[in-house]
Amino acid sequence: MIEGYDKFSFGKKLNEVVSPARPVISIENLIGREDELDRIEKALFSPGRNVFIYGERGVGKSSLAATAANQWQSSDAEYIDVSCSPDSTVKSIVASVASQAVNASWISDSRLTEQATIGLQWLKYSIKSEVSPTDFSEKIRGISDAVEVLKEVSLIHSEVPVVVVDEVDRIECEREIDFLADLLKQIGDKRVEIKFIFTGVGETLNEILGAHQSAIRQLETIELPRLSWDARWDIAIHALKEFNIEISRDIYIRIAAVSDGYPYYVHLIVEKLLWILFEKDEVVAEVTWDDYYSALYKAILGIAAELARPYELAVNQRSQDYEEVLWSTSADEWQGAYLSDMHKQYTNIMSQVDDKLPLPYDKYSSRVRNLLKPEYGEILKKGKKQGYYHYREKMLRGYIRMQAEANRVEIISKEAEATIKNFIHVAAKNVGYHKSKPPKGL
Ligand SMILES: Nc1ncnc2c1ncn2[C@@H]1O[C@H](COP(=O)(O)OP(=O)(O)OP(=O)(O)O)[C@@H](O)[C@H]1O
Ligand SMILES: [Mg+2]
Repeated sequence: MIEGYDKFSFGKKLNEVVSPARPVISIENLIGREDELDRIEKALFSPGRNVFIYGERGVGKSSLAATAANQWQSSDAEYIDVSCSPDSTVKSIVASVASQAVNASWISDSRLTEQATIGLQWLKYSIKSEVSPTDFSEKIRGISDAVEVLKEVSLIHSEVPVVVVDEVDRIECEREIDFLADLLKQIGDKRVEIKFIFTGVGETLNEILGAHQSAIRQLETIELPRLSWDARWDIAIHALKEFNIEISRDIYIRIAAVSDGYPYYVHLIVEKLLWILFEKDEVVAEVTWDDYYSALYKAILGIAAELARPYELAVNQRSQDYEEVLWSTSADEWQGAYLSDMHKQYTNIMSQVDDKLPLPYDKYSSRVRNLLKPEYGEILKKGKKQGYYHYREKMLRGYIRMQAEANRVEIISKEAEATIKNFIHVAAKNVGYHKSKPPKGL
């Protein structure tokens, strides 16, 4: 039981403080991104400059984009939000922006009176006949039409309109990236007062834009790293504090470590934790280790299927020894690991498992190599160097760590242990530590 709440008020408040399934939209809930927000703000002050946020899947790109957009967008309207799909084009994006701007203006006030629409060419037509975005998109013949449409959007939407274009990397047609760059250049040249914030999934700009990188010179590019250690635990502390619940340092460090820097995992664990505390008979004021393990267990059950599925594939093999092999791949930090290092982790893990004998090295390495195959979940991919492996989907490592942790297995990389001891004191049980990598180019 958590004092002062019935189920309804608890659920409502919980949704305000943790949101595993949707991006953060407000500055109070966006933790550890002060530097990035500051850079975005400074870039947007500069005329003709727009922003491109990129980083691995799940690090918090949409959250940063939404929060920055909310900060910058004037209060007379909501910012415009476009999600890309494989068949998106510059025309379809502009049409979607236009249709949202028109709808917003209809709803908000009488700005679209006969009088106000007199000067409009493009949107007047769409307003009168309620043209669908698809039909509208067909009317845009080229970039200069698109610029005109955006100019009209800037006139009817709001004082300072902001557009978020999410997941640009999904656009399949490469030429569209060049068109997009052209559009941005022209709206800068023609002084169209709209600010764009783009996001893209990828570790490098090269991965997202390939040969078209130079096309986006006008953009302020922000590489979003995984969350720092203190931001990870601040999410947990902040959420629990809202309910007057204390959490010990040892427990929040563990949450930070298993999350592997992905805010999604922190939100999920804390959400489950708070429900567990709420459903207890007695009044609670502090998180216990048992609560933490129960929350971890429930978080694993609630994890998105695309993350759980590869794990299931890898462990559901005839030989029952894949799970520990899988855990051993998750101990090292960041880029990947050598087979020999993973094997050291494996030995450490097996010393904690009572009822099983460790596999000999050759069998262990063949199991690791199997993890490259689709029928084993395609967990790993080969690195450039011999014997070096990466995760195919980086976010999986957090899930694998959670599984190990829920099975009460400590994953300690010796190197990580040494570093974490210099940094912070942790109780006997802990999982790996890494120092957050500074953004590239600093
Ligand atoms: N800085 C932050 N502070 C607190 N929570 C965050 C932060 N950034 C993201 N989150 C939370 O993490 C989860 C994932 O965030 P988000 O959807 O923004 O990531 P993303 O990088 O856009 O993911 P994807 O690549 O899947 O689109 C969401 O639950 C969001 O609420
Ligand atoms: Mg996103």
